[in-house]
Amino acid sequence: MLKKAAGEIVKRKHVVAFTGAGISQESGIATFRDAGGLWDRFSPAEFGTVEGIIGVAANTPQKLISFINDSIASLSKASPNPAHLAIAEMEKRGLLDCVITQNVDNLHQLAGNDNVIEVHGNIYRFRCTQCSETIKFSRHDFLEFLNRAVTELNSRSFERIIDAMPSCRCGGKARLDVVMFGEPVQMIPESYSKIEGAKVVLIVGTSGTVYPASEIPRYGKKSGAVIIDVNPKETFYADIDNYFLKGPAGVVMPQLMEEIRALL
Ligand code: APR
Repeated sequence: MLKKAAGEIVKRKHVVAFTGAGISQESGIATFRDAGGLWDRFSPAEFGTVEGIIGVAANTPQKLISFINDSIASLSKASPNPAHLAIAEMEKRGLLDCVITQNVDNLHQLAGNDNVIEVHGNIYRFRCTQCSETIKFSRHDFLEFLNRAVTELNSRSFERIIDAMPSCRCGGKARLDVVMFGEPVQMIPESYSKIEGAKVVLIVGTSGTVYPASEIPRYGKKSGAVIIDVNPKETFYADIDNYFLKGPAGVVMPQLMEEIRALL
């Protein structure tokens, strides 16, 4: 199965990778819906929506402090794993057109991919609530911001919490540029035009359960692409998969890359 999937990639090229939280699981970042995942430990209604976060900050700041400390713990240590590196190598070798990722952890860029479409935003980027200008943070500065947010939450002063948010040069306050539940997903037209031209859609580490991003690989199938799905468990794409490569991405992807190198 691995050899055949590698053969499709080498023969067809124009791979578009579609990734989810599972590809970063071996980098120490929890997935959302697995046992012990983020939504298993923190309620998505409280931590996956703007209203929920504001409510928790005002009423139960300790819960938000635990959520932030959990994020600091995983983000501060996270680095690209062999699955990210394999996808970066595919781009370097001219096999991959782009990565469309649901992740906000910046690990594809860190691994060396230049063509990355982030449909749920990027955790290291803020967007002004007044003029929509974006402000990029280094990981170090972002972690500093999170630590300051914990301090202000402990002060229980809402003004000081708002004051801790970065200011835009227009004078507006900036918020994290990540897509929360109920908010518009980013880069959808760009994603559809890329997936339309894909000859292979390489799905890695996603349950395929969150609309509208989850529809992107299906559109690729309709446009004639071969579907390769890498996951330890069967996904919602079982009905369109041409190849289901069962296993953790950090193990399967380097094996797939080895088969590809042998065919080049
Ligand atoms: N390698 C590959 N896949 C893995 C691994 C691994 N080591 N570990 C877990 N997985 C798989 C799980 O089997 C599951 O199919 O990763 C998938 C993770 O699914 P979710 O937790 O639902 O994450 P994702 O599909 O990325 O969620 C999509 O939901 O909450 C929103 O915005 C959030 O972007 C996220 C979106």
